[in-house]
This record gives sequence, C-alpha cells and structure tokens, in this order.
Amino acid sequence: MPRDENFLKANNARHLWHPMAHPADSQRNPPTIVTGAQGVRITDINGHEVVDGVGGLWNVNLGYSCEPVKAAIAAQLDKLPYYSIFRGTSNDAVIELSGELRDFFEPDGLTRAFFTSGGSDSVETALRLARQYHKIRGESGRVKFLSLKKGYHGTHFGGASVNGNANFRTAYEPLLAGCHHIPAPYTYRNPFNESDPQRLAQLCLQALEDEIAFQGAGTIAAFIMEPILGAGGIIVPHESFMPGVAEICRRNGILLIADEVITGFGRTGAWSGSRLWGVKPDLMCTAKAITNGFFPFGAVMIADHFAETFEKDETGRATIGHGYTYSGHPVGAAAALACLAETRRLNVVENAAARGEQLYRGALALQEKYDVIGDVRGGRGLMVALELVGDRTTKAPADKTTPAIVHETAYKAGAMIRVSGPNILMSPPLVLTSDDVQVLLNALDAGLSAL
Ligand SMILES: Cc1ncc(COP(=O)(O)O)c(C=O)c1O
Repeated sequence: MPRDENFLKANNARHLWHPMAHPADSQRNPPTIVTGAQGVRITDINGHEVVDGVGGLWNVNLGYSCEPVKAAIAAQLDKLPYYSIFRGTSNDAVIELSGELRDFFEPDGLTRAFFTSGGSDSVETALRLARQYHKIRGESGRVKFLSLKKGYHGTHFGGASVNGNANFRTAYEPLLAGCHHIPAPYTYRNPFNESDPQRLAQLCLQALEDEIAFQGAGTIAAFIMEPILGAGGIIVPHESFMPGVAEICRRNGILLIADEVITGFGRTGAWSGSRLWGVKPDLMCTAKAITNGFFPFGAVMIADHFAETFEKDETGRATIGHGYTYSGHPVGAAAALACLAETRRLNVVENAAARGEQLYRGALALQEKYDVIGDVRGGRGLMVALELVGDRTTKAPADKTTPAIVHETAYKAGAMIRVSGPNILMSPPLVLTSDDVQVLLNALDAGLSAL
C-alpha cells in the first residue's frame, strides 16, 4: 500500500540527504514531491501538473511516456536481470548495444565503448584511460589534466578536480593534483573583458597554449571539455573554439575528452556536441539520455586510434584495471538499445533545433521586457539559460532570493525550471511541442513579473 500524503509530507527530507542541497535547508523548505509523469509533464503530490522545463535532469529527452524503453526494461528484467561483464563473461544485450553505438558514433570516429553507471563514472573512466593510454605508449610522464573554468564533470574526485566551479570543489579539497583550468569562453563575464565571441574564443585558446607551455606538454594527459557548457550556465562557445582546442591538443600530443553527458544524443540539435563543432575527440563521455534517464547507465566512446593502442599492446600494460559492477548492465543495455532506436526514429535533432530556437527567441524577448535578465544564452538546441542580475550596467548579481521567486511563481504558472546560482536553466525533453514551449515562456514571464 502506498503511504498516504500526510506521511510523505511529514517525512520529506527527514531521513535522506538531497544531493546539491544543505540538509537543514531541505528540512526547512521541503522539496517538491513528484509523484507522476506523462509525456513532457510531471505531477506533484498535490496534483499540480507542469511542463518539465528541466527534462528530469537534462536526461529525459524522449519524455516520460517512452513506451519502447519501458517495455525493453521490463522484458530484460524477465530474461536476464543482471550479469557482470568483467573478464570472462558478457551478455547479449551489451554486445548488441556496442554495435549500435559504434554505428551511431561512427561519424565522430568513435568505435569502441566502455560501459559505466552514469556521467561521473564516464568522466572517471575517461580520465583513467587517458593516463593509461600514455603509459602504454611509453609517455608515463603525461599525467595532468586541463579543463575549463565553469565546466562541470560530475562529482567523483577526478571529475571534481577538473570541475571549474568552486561550489563542487572547496568542501572536498584537497583534490587530484595536476589539474589546471583555462578561462571559459563566457562572453558575459571573463578576465579579458571581451564580449565578442570569436575574439574571446581566440583569447581562451591563447590561454590554453600558454598553460601548456607553462606546464610542459609532455606532462599533460588530456584536456576535458563540454562542447556546450551545461551546469555552469549554458555557455555556448564560438564555433571556432572547440576546433581550436582540438588542434592545439593534437599538436601537443594531448588527448581531447569530450564530456557529452548532456550534449550527446541530440540535445544541441546535432547528434553530438562534437559533431556540432566538427571535432573528432579521442574519448567521449556519455550517460543521461542514453537510457532516457530510465536506468542509470553510461558509455565512454573510444576513438579508433586510441582503441588500436590498447588492442595492439603486447606488454600487458593495456590490461584495464578499471570497471564497475554495473558496467554493461543488461537492463541498462536493453534500455539504451530501445532508446537509441526511438531517438533515431523520432529524429529528435530536428525538433531540438526548432524548439530550441523558439525557446531562445522567447527568452530574448523576455530580456527586452525585464531588466533583471542580464544575459540570455542558447541558440544551439534545447539548452537555454537566463542570467539574472541586480543591475544591468554593473552586472552586479541579483539578490539571492530573486531566482527562487521566479522559480516558485513559474512553477505555480505551469513550468518546472531549474535554478543554479544566478542562472535559470532550461533543458526540456526534446519531444516537446511548440505549445509546450509557449507554456514555459508564459510561466517564466509570470515568474519574472512577480519580482
Ligand atoms: C557534463 C556532465 N558531465 C558529468 C556529469 C555527471 O553525471 P552524473 O550526475 O550522472 O554522475 C554531468 C551531470 O550533470 C554533466 O552535466
């Protein structure tokens, strides 16, 4: 028997700690209890239904009613609910999935998969395999990692160490040694006072060259970046930026890891963020939308030349001493297979691009109306951010309560949006309609007018 509403409300945040929240704050301001979902809408314990402008957590790309994924999970649970793929065993679902992923990512030059249980695991895997790659090749001094300020790469120690936001670092220091950060191509605020995207991209690339010269190229294993920075505030670099990073990395023998935990599988209006910018990374981290968020799962995709280094090794150095109990989980693999098929069938990139443009234009129109919106970022698929400020001229941050007021009022008006620091982030399912986008924009308008 499900517990009654009063029980759930009384126990909300009492016996669990919520990620990314202060435990006392969660007790004082109990989180919204979500009890159901259909299509692109979620329903809370009070029966209030809203359009999910967050898409779960950037992962429910195909919406909540994606029957093929649900059916695949149910069928796999009946057939083979678990078996490990550590040395010596495999399962049918994961073999089939690896072939499908190879086809899907073939245009990115990625032909092998290493399976994980989520985004942080994928990042950890990529960082570890990058170091091992250099050791196999006899360059064991290449151990450092470079990344972007404002970047987000999950919360394992490796990922936190390459993260570019103090909120995910300071309380957990000391982090991994040898991780260094480059300014992000964030036109609204940057140390160069440069607002032109192309010129800023060049300045950030120069900073990267400078850091490589300072550290010594021969000490650096890899550079990790999100093709479009997500959690850090939806920072869309100029189109010259990622190709520039790739060229500098190649010239210096540094591996390029694309963290596509958000941007993979169509969110940017391209099938991957790397493909959007015309870059072929050495490793690509995926997770989230790979199973439409219905099962914790991820895959690190591996470039052909990288795979060859491991597969042709005869010294034993390429033995992989890394993996997770749930690597290649058959239920996750079955979910991913169904999800990939549905993603392709619906050709979600087209809707992501069209609806993304609509949401971005709508957000720009709101900026005309409300001075509190200092910056609007987006224009590449369904990732749109509003940065709220207290003063447009000085760009002084908005009062801490401002985003919360917008959030609460927008929720009442029919939309779940995400607040992260001064930013309002939107990453709805890629299958939403033009009317759904309008619901999001109207709710935002209501939220902003409440200030
Ligand atoms: C770019 C990026 N990398 C890694 C992660 C970590 O993924 P997870 O929360 O599944 O561990 C996230 C999560 O939002 C992400 O956005």
